[in-house]
Amino acid sequence: MKHTHLILLAFCSLFTTLSAQQKTTPVYSDVNIPLEQRVEDALSRMTLEEKVGLCHAQSKFSSAGVPRLGIPDVWMSDGPHGVREEIVWDDWTPAAWGNDSCTAFPALTCLAATFNPILSREYGVAVGEEARFRNKTMLLGPGLNIYRTPMNGRNFEYMGEDPWLSSIMVVPYIQGLQSNGVSACVKHFALNNQETNRDNIDVEVSDRALYEIYLPAFKAAVQKGKAWGIMGSYNQYNGQHCCHNEWLINRILKKEWGFDGVVVSDWGGTHDTKQAALNGLDIEMGSYSNAMPRGKNNSYAFYYLANPFLDLIKKGEIPQSLVDEKARRVLRLIFRTTMSPNRPFGRFVCPDHSQVARKIGGEGIVLLKNQQSLLPIQKNTYKTIAVIGDNATRSLTKAGGSSELKVKYEVSPLQAIKALYGNNKVVYSQGYAAGAFQYGRTTRSTANNDSLLNAAVETARTADVVVYVGGLNKNNGQDCEGGDRTSYGLPFGQEKLLEELAKVNPNIVVVLLSGNAVAMPWLDNVKAVVQAWYIGSEAGNAIVDVLSGAVNPSGKLPFTFPKRLEDNGAMSFGVSSFPGEKGKETYKEDILVGYRWHDTKQIAPQFSFGFGLSYTTFELGKLRASASQFKAGKTIKLSVTVKNTGKVYGAEVVQIYASQQHPSVMRPVKELKAFQKVFLNAGEMKTVSLEVNTNDLAFFDDTKHAWKLEPDTYTLHCATSATDIKSKVDIKIVN
Ligand code: GLC
Repeated sequence: MKHTHLILLAFCSLFTTLSAQQKTTPVYSDVNIPLEQRVEDALSRMTLEEKVGLCHAQSKFSSAGVPRLGIPDVWMSDGPHGVREEIVWDDWTPAAWGNDSCTAFPALTCLAATFNPILSREYGVAVGEEARFRNKTMLLGPGLNIYRTPMNGRNFEYMGEDPWLSSIMVVPYIQGLQSNGVSACVKHFALNNQETNRDNIDVEVSDRALYEIYLPAFKAAVQKGKAWGIMGSYNQYNGQHCCHNEWLINRILKKEWGFDGVVVSDWGGTHDTKQAALNGLDIEMGSYSNAMPRGKNNSYAFYYLANPFLDLIKKGEIPQSLVDEKARRVLRLIFRTTMSPNRPFGRFVCPDHSQVARKIGGEGIVLLKNQQSLLPIQKNTYKTIAVIGDNATRSLTKAGGSSELKVKYEVSPLQAIKALYGNNKVVYSQGYAAGAFQYGRTTRSTANNDSLLNAAVETARTADVVVYVGGLNKNNGQDCEGGDRTSYGLPFGQEKLLEELAKVNPNIVVVLLSGNAVAMPWLDNVKAVVQAWYIGSEAGNAIVDVLSGAVNPSGKLPFTFPKRLEDNGAMSFGVSSFPGEKGKETYKEDILVGYRWHDTKQIAPQFSFGFGLSYTTFELGKLRASASQFKAGKTIKLSVTVKNTGKVYGAEVVQIYASQQHPSVMRPVKELKAFQKVFLNAGEMKTVSLEVNTNDLAFFDDTKHAWKLEPDTYTLHCATSATDIKSKVDIKIVN
């Protein structure tokens, strides 16, 4: 009896210990409990001060967790193309660590140019693994602002001029990134379509343009991509800064779209405590608020959402429910990432990541011209290949602003060309000098451009073929954050140089490295043109893969190349339309952005949206639709055969544009509503299936603040670019 009694006693004391332990182990740290329950449990244990502490920066790239409760800080890092080097605690200075040199992936314009959502997923997974390995909670990307004008300094970070292309390409990137337990931070929400006066420019735009052009990709990122973070933009919309804009954040993002993640301000984009508190900002980053002395100790306490916020709550001027909601969202971010039980471990700078970068580069490069099949350059065709241009050797990863990267390696075009064709066959001449990069300004080169030009002409004169590598270079005013371009042509005397080179050698291939369209007065004097973007660590290899034919180019332009700058919609209405005047800017081209403008105004572009050549040829059959009439909400099933009628393996992108025949409002001539990339061996034919949901044919009725699908006849154009329609089919929408 005694023995049993003892066992019983031991059991009871063990149970008491366990249950006592159980009581002190917070529910929020029990990974088996549902996430929302963990959030509420953590919230219930926090003080008011701790909740406010979640809502603002504690350093340049972090915001506080709750150390007392074991809830980790939130660590953020740029950028969309790779994980930025470590920055010191309190300002923009690199920390000069020895272990943070990353893989630079291609700029998102290049990813968009692949028209291949499968690569978006691979991109997101790879860059997410690097961010995870660097223990980041949130990666500050992808960028989604629409390409409205070729002058925008940051277009290279975004996905082009078309909302449908951006909407389809961004979702897998976010899903891939977040599969690593690292949050995306989709940016810059919204209407940040230029760098000039970006901190304050007040954008005026119609509801139709807002909903039909500028918001769709953000909506897809939130509702389909399930983004856990979004970044408010610097500019204003309707007189309120976007980082705390009642309409954009409270009404559209959180109410209409149901966004349950965190709204982060752009760095310095917060301007008012009450607005930040009331209009949905959740974490204030990068402020130098008036009340706060720059860089002083504990200056973060002066942030708008720090002590000033705490004071207003304590005075009862702001309900505590507001800080609870903000804290709830930040805790949700933390439990989705650093405190997630299923968080993978990531990888940093590995062959797989290089392979992804190279593949995306190769599939994103766009062949714009190839007269007499000058390309591809086979290995033993020529005795002498002249490589000319500053961009053939210049590093283009450590530049461009906040998306800059400190890389483990970067293969230049010249290195790769020499490696493939042989040092003894390649001669290089700089041709022009672009000056050294200093963020925010460009130091003028001291080199004498005349002597550089003359030397390059002599090099070209005796070569069998010239590979010219030029373009822009992410210097200030040349595709760089903080400033817009000041001219549409190639800078640093490149136009003159190309003119002179063409006089001495007819076999010129121009390789453009840029994130924007450029004027091409030299186009008729060269035989081939390749748009090669900013590709990052694998730039040289991806470019040579295409030049040599190892990769058959299949990229398509994600934005239009106008012949003249004034042919672009935004650039057709004077300064009030771009870059704005007296602090205001009106998007006067309205919904007619990019090819929508060129189609409607019948202005022939230099190169069309969706355009890209191949080393092979394709033949498309007649587009077929599953029926001739549809009700709202139904899916139109389309099919078309595509045959590779050439001699090499390649890929084509079938694009479906829709037109409404008799709209009650002004609508673009046609709009992209589906696309599908298809890979084919020489001689092979496949049937490509595409779908269009009839609801996607609607326009935004700003009189009713609702989408409207009008019963009418709609034409579905099957195309391989916005100006190359192969066939079409009419369908009716009926009530
Ligand atoms: C910059 C950029 C933003 C970036 C942030 C942090 O000003 O606008 O894209 O993520 O600040 O560097």
